[in-house]
Amino acid sequence: MSTTPTQPRKKITTHHLRQKKERGEPIAMLTAYDYPTALALDSAGVDAILVGDSLGMVVLGYDTTLPVTMDDMLHHAKAVARGARTAHLVGDLPFMSYQVSTAEAVRNAGRMLQEGGMDAVKLEGGRHVAGTIEAIVTAGIPVMGHIGLTPQSVHQLGGFKTQGRSADAARQLVTDAHLLEEAGCYALVLEAIPDRLAELISHRLSIPTIGIGAGSGCDGQVLVTHDLLGLFDRFTPRFVKQYANLHEAMGKAFTAYIQDVKQQQFPAPEHATEMSDEAYRALLAGLEADAQQAAARLAQ
Ligand code: KIV
Repeated sequence: MSTTPTQPRKKITTHHLRQKKERGEPIAMLTAYDYPTALALDSAGVDAILVGDSLGMVVLGYDTTLPVTMDDMLHHAKAVARGARTAHLVGDLPFMSYQVSTAEAVRNAGRMLQEGGMDAVKLEGGRHVAGTIEAIVTAGIPVMGHIGLTPQSVHQLGGFKTQGRSADAARQLVTDAHLLEEAGCYALVLEAIPDRLAELISHRLSIPTIGIGAGSGCDGQVLVTHDLLGLFDRFTPRFVKQYANLHEAMGKAFTAYIQDVKQQQFPAPEHATEMSDEAYRALLAGLEADAQQAAARLAQ
């Protein structure tokens, strides 16, 4: 029988993602915020992992992504980087880490690679962030853009709503997409926009588009992993396909454990560490000797 060793898969780069678009090969991206999830995604063969600021909602329990800080992002990015060897790694720049000044944006993007171990950064916005993107790219840092529903602008948008429904709004998004490509983005997330608009933008750009709630006409797809696994119980957007119900599975496992502890079914003998009779007898004798010595000291 042949024992040819399987070749380790090579790290996926921005160039590979571009080649996938050119070959018409869909790109699969998911979010991760910790080491075990990154390990599982990498082994499953995902093309790209996003350490999204969605972690603010699905892991940290905030109502929006706005409270997430650069330190929060770096903490989770480092854990993901330790778990993933092959997937292309993208770190989200959180709210207020790139809006105040170009210098701060470049510094924070650099931290995401240098400290967080990411391969690229993602930031939200259209024409207004094109200059910032250009500066980050000039510093040698690959940038993934993100237009449509941009959760960091939730208060300006009036909620988590589909964008680009009218001809005018859609035209603005097409222009934004072109400006971001010109600014140097290597890929672009299209979130919650009509399918036809996403398909049109995808055809017009040379860089890959990654859709979330944007239909099947994009070059790739991304979902929040907690939504896909049924781990986020508060709400599930309509565009999510749930592949498991881990919230329910976790609840069942926890209830079973609590019951086992209360009924003294856990730990069972197979979970215990044995001590020989000889060692145990010696322990008791030693304790007895200690007690006698202490009593003798007290009596002096
Ligand atoms: O933060 C995130 O997870 C994202 C995806 C929804 C694209 O930005």
